[in-house]
Order: sequence, then structure tokens, then C-alpha cells
Amino acid sequence: MVKVAVIGSSSMDLVVTSAKRPEAGETVLGESFKTVPGGKGANQAVAAARLGAEVYMVGCVGNDHYGKEILKNFADNQVRINYVEPVTEMESGTAHIILAEGDNSIVVVKGANDAVTPAYVKHAKRAIEQADIVLIQQEIPEETVEYVANLCHELGVPLLLNPAPARPISENVIEKAAYITPNEHEAALLFAGISAGEALTKYPEKLFITEGKRGVRYFNGKSEVLIPSYAVEVVDTTGAGDTFNAALAVALAEGKTIEESLRFANRAASLSVMKFGAQGGMPLRKEVEDKME
Ligand code: ATP
Ligand code: RIB
Repeated sequence: MVKVAVIGSSSMDLVVTSAKRPEAGETVLGESFKTVPGGKGANQAVAAARLGAEVYMVGCVGNDHYGKEILKNFADNQVRINYVEPVTEMESGTAHIILAEGDNSIVVVKGANDAVTPAYVKHAKRAIEQADIVLIQQEIPEETVEYVANLCHELGVPLLLNPAPARPISENVIEKAAYITPNEHEAALLFAGISAGEALTKYPEKLFITEGKRGVRYFNGKSEVLIPSYAVEVVDTTGAGDTFNAALAVALAEGKTIEESLRFANRAASLSVMKFGAQGGMPLRKEVEDKME
């Protein structure tokens, strides 16, 4: 069983479904409202655990009702929470999601996820040094990503950076991360001034640009390759990227080749979009393997 440490956000997703997305200043009548666990860090931790990894979450929740539910959800999914602390001075992170017209719009209020500082992560050094791979995203402070990139580099533990949501990243982080997985919009921001193709060529077998239902693109050292995803009936794409990242991390940590790992990640992510909620469709290991056959 591979060990995965996730340094990231844990939130509650407040999800409204509606036939129409409101314009600025407009009110529309929605169809349903649900509260489900989310946050990119928590989603990736849960997805990796369902895929068979031993997962250590490093994060913060508020000392409130959502915080308690988030902790219970980790426990229900066998994610280790020795390094998840309730903080009193901030509320749990929330994501306010509208599902309309076949896509989502999300406003994230980071709340307690801002307490995942370098000083906080320092206490989780043991989980990081014992991990086969570390996963990080960008719903926590920028300096924490910088700190973890330096720490992983120093410890020789591979870091998979999912640079979402989009924000600029230092050259140091780009160099020290072992793998970087932006979607097309995030890639355009990270590598402004050069084309996606040039960026891929610059970072062979390190930069993987996800393209939604089309799959994922990378440069294998000789040519640019698109590994296609799988055609499925889509219910909710929220969390597809998180499932992809978790599955990629687990497969790479298990020693699968880059191409095998990307196929596994596409398969897991394509299954995740078939059910409602970021974590609702995240598959178990067996479900992915049955489909791979
Ligand atoms: P998210 O919607 O979670 O923010 P993202 O924008 O980070 O996702 P995408 O490029 O949209 O990332 O999707 C990540 C991966 O999920 C894709 O590379 C693909 O493997 C899978 N995927 C996403 N959408 C679909 C879909 N409609 N059908 C099949 N696979 C999908
Ligand atoms: O990647 C999906 C996640 O992004 C959602 O669960 C929501 O919490 C947002 O942060």
C-alpha cells in the first residue's frame, strides 16, 4: 500500500442546481440545494484512499458544525486525520457552487484553510518524509506551497502540484515540483508568453495539461501525446480534476509508467463525473480496475 500525504484544503460544498445561471443583478429560481464534503485537498485525499492508498491529510477546519462533518467524512473514507486541526478563530472553508447549463461556477471562501501555514505544516514533517508522494493544490496560502516544494525537494519526496485554482507560481516551485497538472486555463496563466506546446516540451514527463473530456496532454521526450479520456454520461464534473490528480499520484507512487498512470487517472476521473458531488462519484480501486480490463 503506497503512502500519500495531502497538504491542502477541506471545505463544505454548498451546491445549488438550476436550469439557468443568474446574470449579474438577476434572480433565478433554482431546483435543489445540497451540502456535501469538498475542498480540493480533501477531495484528493478521499479519492486516493478509495483507490487503495494509505492517506495522511494535512489541513485545518473550523471548530464548527461543518468542521465536525468534514472530520467524520475523512474517518468514513479511511483518511488519517492526525494532522487535521480544528481552529477556533476561523470558520470552516466553504465552496458555493452553482450547477447550471452543464457546468459549474464556484466561489470558494477559504476560511480555516488559511491556517495551513508553513509553521503548521512543519508539525506534519513526519507524514511528509514517510510519504511515497505528496499532493498539494492552491486553496491554501501561497507561502505554504513554496515551503512544501522546498521541503519535499530537500527530503527527496516527489511532489505533485495541482495548480488549482489558478494563480501565478514561482520558478522555484515549478522547478522543485516533480509533476504539475494544470487544466488548460491554469496552464495559460502559468506559462504566459509561451504556447502550451512549448511549455509541455520544456517539461517532459513532468507537465500534464488536462483537457476535460478530451483527456490529458504531455510531452514524452520525443513527441506530444494526448491520452484520451473515456466517453461517459456526465452528471457533475465537480471533482474530476481532484480524482485525476489523486489517481495519477497513486499510480505513479506504485511505480506504473507515466502512460499507464495517465490512463488510470483518466479512467478514475471519467467515473467520478457520473455521479453528483465532488466526492459522490469517486471510484473504489476495484471499480477502476474492472473498467480498465
Ligand atoms: P474540475 O472540474 O474538477 O475543476 P479541472 O478543470 O481541474 O477539473 P479537467 O481538465 O476538466 O480538470 O478534467 C480533469 C480530468 O478529468 C480530465 O483530464 C479527464 O481525465 C477527466 N474528465 C473531466 N471531464 C470529463 C468528462 N466529461 N468525461 C470524461 N472524463 C472527464
Ligand atoms: O475541485 C473541486 C472542488 O473545488 C470543490 O469540491 C470545491 O470545494 C472547490 O474548492
